[in-house]
Amino acid sequence: MKKNTTVCGFCRFLILLLPAIVTVESSIDGDRDIKRSDFPDGFLFGTATSAYQIEGAYLEDGSGPSNWDHFFGIGGNLTNRDNGFIADDYYHRYMEDIELMHSLGVNAYRFSISWSRVLPKGKFGEVNQEAIIFYNKIIDNILLRGIQPFVTIHHFDYPQELEDRYGGWLSPLMQEDFVYFAETCFNNFADRVKYWATINEPNLFVEMAYVRATYPPARCSPPYGNCAQGNSDVEPLIAVHNMLLAHAKASKLYGEQFKLEGNGMIGIIVHAFMYIPLTDDKVDKEAAKRALAFNVAWILDPVVFGDYPPEMRRYHGNELPNFSSDERALLRDSIDFIGINHYSTIYAKDCIYSSCSCNDSSCTKGNDRPLRGFVSTAVERNGVPIGEPTGMIRFFVVPKGMEGIVLYVKQRYHNKAIFVTENGYSSPDNEDASYQNDLERINFHKSYLSYLVKAIRKGADVRGYFIWTLMDDFEWSNGYNPKFGLYRIDHPTLNRIPKLSAGWYRDFLSNTSSVDIVSSNYISSNERDLAY
Ligand code: NOJ
Repeated sequence: MKKNTTVCGFCRFLILLLPAIVTVESSIDGDRDIKRSDFPDGFLFGTATSAYQIEGAYLEDGSGPSNWDHFFGIGGNLTNRDNGFIADDYYHRYMEDIELMHSLGVNAYRFSISWSRVLPKGKFGEVNQEAIIFYNKIIDNILLRGIQPFVTIHHFDYPQELEDRYGGWLSPLMQEDFVYFAETCFNNFADRVKYWATINEPNLFVEMAYVRATYPPARCSPPYGNCAQGNSDVEPLIAVHNMLLAHAKASKLYGEQFKLEGNGMIGIIVHAFMYIPLTDDKVDKEAAKRALAFNVAWILDPVVFGDYPPEMRRYHGNELPNFSSDERALLRDSIDFIGINHYSTIYAKDCIYSSCSCNDSSCTKGNDRPLRGFVSTAVERNGVPIGEPTGMIRFFVVPKGMEGIVLYVKQRYHNKAIFVTENGYSSPDNEDASYQNDLERINFHKSYLSYLVKAIRKGADVRGYFIWTLMDDFEWSNGYNPKFGLYRIDHPTLNRIPKLSAGWYRDFLSNTSSVDIVSSNYISSNERDLAY
């Protein structure tokens, strides 16, 4: 009895000590005390959305069918509400959403323009003036509230007409259609919009559309999948090639005709996971570098240096397209900034010198092929996950990766200006029951921001950070399940309900947040009136 009491006393001592140990640990990581004032003056803090994921208003006011409408509607796959026909009904509720952003205190808002709303038939039809009015209202109203528009011209959705006519991004004809769309946007909005991103995540889009076949036009071939049509070894390369040239042509046009006296900026946005070696073996270290080259530099090398990464040229055969010398000149330095969408970090394992069998479902298929850079990726090492899981497969919480990816981009691209155009947390399962209590999301942002500050202190020229996303939205082929929002959307009323993270972001932006994660109590500076 006596002995037990002694042990328990010692346990109590340890328990008392534990918060202190945890605090020391985390202050080493610097993830407790992150403040807005840790960031440079003029830093943009915003939320990000994309048109198809929130707008709804399918075919309303002259809007035409997009590739996604076709995919979920006409193309089948229409289950429950899992399409973007209504989404968050932002098309009708945008004023309410602008007020939400204003109440958060953001100074920037990243959103995209629906191509098929503005040009229902691409350049084969008229400009839909109703769409121009809609986006003008958004731009004018956010500017009135001190929020800078940060516009993505193309975020995964385009008129189905262009797919039907010539196969969308697989055709070089898409380049001219994109430039026409970009010019329409510049003509109508560039007098007030200073930040332009031409294309969102070409690298991710082509993987989903032409390899995994989970985004339209859903094409693929073995060993990646069995689709009716497609060639996954080459089509992603062709589509990216057309996207890069489309970007470069639009960027040239912007620079020549629309840039506001050096005031405007144009860039491209890349899906940017960080890759780290699975083991300390030299070959795995090389594999991690290769994975970065085949994913991130695939898009960024051409728009900075004018050609694909040497790593890709080395391993790909003739299937990697060539740029003419005129095209290389057009591409070179065709960006003012690099946009990175960063969520997670993944292990990389070499498949050149070691064998990479691919038997389980978590294995990326085709890791013995040039398209994958002969790299196999994993989210576990010796059965231990790389970080806490989230609601997205392969999106684990690895805050340090933020520093890693920013420094990689800084170093490879000679400290080009960077915006973190997306960073966000999706809850592991149905968030509805405990939506107000999203401490994990708060913790996620605090810790990722703290590693962003570390990268900035090491000299990275980071100019802004956008939380993905303002409100739960339509997460493409994952439907409405992953919930990334600072606000919950109550279905079917579509009411916007603040999560704790909305209050945290507001407090962070006014430098007043205080989160006691050990005892799981979030204390808002204005806890009682979270009625936005
Ligand atoms: C990146 C994409 O740009 C966005 O559309 C998507 O919803 C988020 N990642 C989360 O997966």
